[in-house]
Amino acid sequence: MAIKHFLQFNDLSTAELNHIFARTQWIKAQFKAYQQYWPLQDRTLVMIFEKASTRTRLSFEAGIQQLGGSAIYLNTRDSQLGRGEPVEDAAQVISRMSDLVMIRTFEQDIIERFAANSRVPVINGLTNEYHPCQILADIFTFIEHRGGDISSIKGKTVAWIGDSNNVCNTWLQAAELLDFNVHVSTPPGYEVEPERANLYGNSHFETFVDPMEAAKGADLVTTDVWTSMGFEAENEERKRDFADWQVDADMMKVANKDALFMHCLPAHRGEEVAAEVIDGKQSVVWDEAENRLHVQKALMEYLLLGKV
Ligand code: CP
Ligand code: NVA
Repeated sequence: MAIKHFLQFNDLSTAELNHIFARTQWIKAQFKAYQQYWPLQDRTLVMIFEKASTRTRLSFEAGIQQLGGSAIYLNTRDSQLGRGEPVEDAAQVISRMSDLVMIRTFEQDIIERFAANSRVPVINGLTNEYHPCQILADIFTFIEHRGGDISSIKGKTVAWIGDSNNVCNTWLQAAELLDFNVHVSTPPGYEVEPERANLYGNSHFETFVDPMEAAKGADLVTTDVWTSMGFEAENEERKRDFADWQVDADMMKVANKDALFMHCLPAHRGEEVAAEVIDGKQSVVWDEAENRLHVQKALMEYLLLGKV
């Protein structure tokens, strides 16, 4: 069987996504019922972090352990990865000693090169371009809050307010596969680059100059930090440029009455989101964070065992 990687969202087909969401429901229910499920006994996940993380590390490490396997954490500070060893060489070595690799890094090219030299599946735990595991969790969270029907996101409108970053690009790929629409509003100069987002077309997203227009009638309003990891030097400039792109209560009012609010976290209250929104009734950010655990368990099961 050819090795299956998850380097960007559209590495999975619609059918594969539906399988993973269905497995997530089952795996989560087993976990909540304290039922042991160890399909990945003796399997080793290597996690490579070139950027900081709380949720991604925790959810992958806990997730593989709960499936019966174990995890090894590597970072650039105290491994040879930060000292110029070619990524191709690292991939050869790491993939001979493990069953699965998760990487959080900078350019997408790095993870692509690693995967091209890996004997085992590679998962993108965030790059400058994409954050596919996050959107798996976000869509699963939407489905759960809409009664558990996997097709419930079809035809819906997601409003993306803020930076056209890795999380935004991934929403755009997901919209094409699962047939929903994304209304994007970014400040001038921070617009979506469809090529960077690697889209098939532009039929599933629409851009809006005014963030209030983007939020109008949305089923889900979502945003992310104004300054992503790796872009810290632009922080002050971005704070000025993004000042009018805060998701606040007035913005939530123009969305659908039952609209959900999501944020991948970590969040900055008073910047991209007002405290009253992220801590308010429509916010599902804690479910969203928890679901990283459950969807990634289903993802790891699929990449290693196929359709069980
Ligand atoms: N949302 C997310 O990926 O969080 P971490 O940066 O804490 O992993
Ligand atoms: N866009 C953010 C997401 C963090 C989980 C970043 O890349 O820093």
